[in-house]
Amino acid sequence: MELKEIHFKIAVYNSAAELNTTDAELLKAARDTTEFAYAPYSKFFVGAAAILANGKIITGTNQENASYPVCICAERVLLSAVASQYPGEPVHTMAISYKNNNGESSKPISPCGVCRQTLVEYQERTKTPIRIILSGMSGDVFIVENAKQLLPLSFTADDLLT
Ligand code: THU
Repeated sequence: MELKEIHFKIAVYNSAAELNTTDAELLKAARDTTEFAYAPYSKFFVGAAAILANGKIITGTNQENASYPVCICAERVLLSAVASQYPGEPVHTMAISYKNNNGESSKPISPCGVCRQTLVEYQERTKTPIRIILSGMSGDVFIVENAKQLLPLSFTADDLLT
């Protein structure tokens, strides 16, 4: 028996002001688009913005429903939009932010399990890792270089062939 350890690194910045221009603009787009979240039930307004390999910026927000399980997270709304409007186009980086009714959000959130699975599927599909920028409306910013790091031992299409 051997014990295997899985490590991954995240870059931690104290604020968006420390980011390069492209990352800062993407995070701003994610923060701005929280305005368009439809979250009357949770009052947790999530915004995601992605820059594609072709330079286009696409946004997504969470869309809730009175039938709670029907709610869709911002990340999956975004990836569905990309796959529909620019099929096959790699997502270079996705920024995710949020606000709620408890005042200013200054702590990063990270994608739920279903969204992690969806991110991994998308990056396998396009054979290009997705960088992830995580932050609230202010404060610390975390950057992960590859969405797969958020889902170690992930189940992928390759496993269906074993
Ligand atoms: N939500 C997202 O849109 N993305 C996440 O990464 C976490 C959760 C949404 C789902 C639901 O509408 C609300 O936030 C509260 O869970």
